[in-house]
Amino acid sequence: MITKAVIPAAGFGTRFLPATKASPKEMLPIIDTPVIQYVVEEAVASGITDILMVIGKGKRAVEEHFDRSFELEAELEAKGRLEELAAIRAISELANIHFVWQKRMLGLGDAIRCARYHIDGEPFAVLLGDTLMQSQNGVPATRQLIDMYERYGGGCVVALEEVPQERVSRYGIISGELIGDRTYRIRDLVEKPVPDEAPSRLAIASRYILTPDIFSYIDAAPAGKNGEIQITDALRLRTADGSAMYGCRVAAMRHDIGNTFGFITTNIRYALAHDDLAAPLGDFILAEAESIRRARAGHPK
Ligand code: UTP
Repeated sequence: MITKAVIPAAGFGTRFLPATKASPKEMLPIIDTPVIQYVVEEAVASGITDILMVIGKGKRAVEEHFDRSFELEAELEAKGRLEELAAIRAISELANIHFVWQKRMLGLGDAIRCARYHIDGEPFAVLLGDTLMQSQNGVPATRQLIDMYERYGGGCVVALEEVPQERVSRYGIISGELIGDRTYRIRDLVEKPVPDEAPSRLAIASRYILTPDIFSYIDAAPAGKNGEIQITDALRLRTADGSAMYGCRVAAMRHDIGNTFGFITTNIRYALAHDDLAAPLGDFILAEAESIRRARAGHPK
């Protein structure tokens, strides 16, 4: 049974400066809720009860968000705002949340390595703290991976997403064969291949189930650019040793909010699915779309 999850949230977030100079990108709101809260909710809905967040300098707001805020609670209670009070309290009761500091931002592999002692020999889930997975079948993306892990009796499992050929060079891409519904047996991984040399269009997509032997492969993984250690390299070494690894083409839409375009489009998508915002935002978008169409066709406004 997988009950532990690691959420790396220590990265610098340089693609989102200056907003991320002093504030964590994981705290950017989608509508009115920080991205990382959605990530925690996905973990909890997948059966996770123990979460370790990897944080670093400038990330105190993440800790505070998941802690009790007695002053705010007292204020809301005094004003009779009981609905907000319940919502605020619920955040600190979502799961058993712990924090560990990544001292130098040496990449995702290094961030995961910070969890070694907390994980204590168990398989665990990893959810990137800056990426949302919007389920398309009602089953949270992490739960889809846990189900696959249990079905195949262990082995690492990674979420996969089919990406267009021209974008493969941005991702870790797998080679392997389809062995069941949405299920791949992975033979190899390539980090950021040039499009012509990519073995497939299946990219590793921000959710993982890792077995505890991964830590020794992270130790053995070569440091790349700026001394960074990539989890893809550790997984690659593990696969080369003949250890089982599966890919699940998840029924979920991935939203990377670590870049401005992804952040804006994710907000629009979530708002269009929101009870109060869907209608007025839909009207606004239609009006804007009409003026964009006219401008592109060379008509005056
Ligand atoms: P990214 O690959 O988006 O890296 O990390 P980044 O450094 O945060 O962002 P840019 O590229 O500079 O804009 C994916 C996830 O892994 C975490 C990040 O916080 C993010 O949630 N991460 C990344 C760490 O925890 N530590 C690291 O050293 C790198």
